[in-house]
Amino acid sequence: MVQSYKHEPFCDFSNQRNQKEFEAALQKVETELGKNYPLIIGGERIFTEDSIISVNPANREEVVGRVSKATQELAEKAMKVADRTFQTWRKSRPEMRADILFRASAIVRRRKHEFSAILVKEAGKPWNEADADTAEAIDFMEYYARQMLKLKDGIPVESRSMEYNRFNYIPLGVGVIISPWNFAFAIMAGMTTAALVTGNTVLLKPASTTPVIAAKLMEVLEEAGLPAGVVNYIPGSGAEVGDYLVDHPRTRFISFTGSRDVGLRIYERASKLSTGQIWLKRVVAEMGGKDTIVVDKEADLELASQSIVASAFGFSGQKCSACSRAVILEDVYDQVLDRVVELTRELTVGDPSKQSIKMGPVNDQGAFDKIMSYIAIGKEEGKLMFGGEGEDGKGWFIQPTIFADVDENARIMKEEIFGPVVAFCKAKDFNHAIDIANNTEYGLTGAVITNNRENIEKAREDFHVGNLYFNRGCTGAIVGYQPFGGFNMSGTDSKAGGPDYLLLHLQGKTTSETL
Ligand code: NAD
Ligand code: ALA
Repeated sequence: MVQSYKHEPFCDFSNQRNQKEFEAALQKVETELGKNYPLIIGGERIFTEDSIISVNPANREEVVGRVSKATQELAEKAMKVADRTFQTWRKSRPEMRADILFRASAIVRRRKHEFSAILVKEAGKPWNEADADTAEAIDFMEYYARQMLKLKDGIPVESRSMEYNRFNYIPLGVGVIISPWNFAFAIMAGMTTAALVTGNTVLLKPASTTPVIAAKLMEVLEEAGLPAGVVNYIPGSGAEVGDYLVDHPRTRFISFTGSRDVGLRIYERASKLSTGQIWLKRVVAEMGGKDTIVVDKEADLELASQSIVASAFGFSGQKCSACSRAVILEDVYDQVLDRVVELTRELTVGDPSKQSIKMGPVNDQGAFDKIMSYIAIGKEEGKLMFGGEGEDGKGWFIQPTIFADVDENARIMKEEIFGPVVAFCKAKDFNHAIDIANNTEYGLTGAVITNNRENIEKAREDFHVGNLYFNRGCTGAIVGYQPFGGFNMSGTDSKAGGPDYLLLHLQGKTTSETL
């Protein structure tokens, strides 16, 4: 019998044995740096001349891997394979598909530190963040396997006498999975395995700065027994391969997680009919955030300060859920601000291969330049309380940065920065704080720190975000516990890791037999 779902526990790195094991995993991964990774289409390994070079953002000279790069021609080949394979895969037993995910998650769990060590090198994650990313990848596989078992027989409907009605879910077809670099393992694995466990076939285009961890998932899925052609690995340029596949008439659905602008582009292009296309493409789009922690005057201010620091600077603020706005009631504003600055002073920035480092690099030169340009804007719009400096020599490092006294309509209060920058804004009262929190086009996560029950209920009704937390930070949703996804320009509110997520990859079929 399948055991009930429990999320994968995080590793305790204060334990010396765990530290040693993680160091050993890092050493193992170091021996594999610079390897060449092929495309995988229908099980065939294809090396291309042109490649994507994945580097360590903490040390740009260190090549994590050279990954073959798909062209439109190879994307077309992959589409044909996926389309053909769908004809058999759609008829495979859901139990068998779930078993493949259970096996895949067990393989990852056995080699957990190895995957996390790749994330340290390829995504620049500190140990705890890398460990959480791997744990979430395991969770997605465990959770979606169980969800598929729940859905496999459909949902009972009524039948009149002399008829037998059934309502079942069937897969859609070929899905294009376009994943981001920030949860390079978890989100990429979650999107891919949700699509395959529901009986679809997949074209997997991972983010170009983190293709190696996706190549590792391919190895795991093969080892777990996934037939060739079900998932086809085709890293490549978003503009070239991404557009081509989004427009393709045989694409049945697109599952995208990434920025607002690329999400909108995909949403628009997918709505246009291509020659030969006989369906409306489905688009699942999870996009950006401009997430807020509201601190009430009746609140645990130490909890508030710690939550702001962890949510703003964890993984250098490169989470769609990161706290980039702290909205504090004026009565307690100075106290919270001072404590946040004090706690931020303790953060160590550097190469996250070392356990002592709490904040690693940002993703690449593009991210560095964008964040530094927002810091320059912040210097105009607010009072710099901490940080504000960056260093793009060996790697791409930016100090955790705090701006105070920022106007609620300032750019750094409204636009996604996606880096270690938090703006403090003063609110007159709790209603004003919620108005400020809602004053953005996004609606992904938010948190309220308060001991006032009335204000909790007010925020529950009026704080318009897909994931709202009370008396904790605004990052760190757990699969199966806090289904994750946002409102407005944060996406289609498809709740990853939630009970209705798999349905986005399925269509309902009614059959009615006259007896
Ligand atoms: P991005 O939009 O730059 O890239 C995401 C993916 O889209 C990559 O694989 C990229 O290669 C691909 N892409 C780029 N152009 C494309 C095109 N024209 N057609 C098809 N695909 C294309 O985002 P990113 O920098 O990788 O990730 C950061 C963004 O993702 C942030 O905005 C963050 O908030 C968001 N994000 C959202 C969630 C969520 O669940 N809502 C989770 C993680 C990240
Ligand atoms: N699911 C991730 C979080 O909640 C993005 O932080």
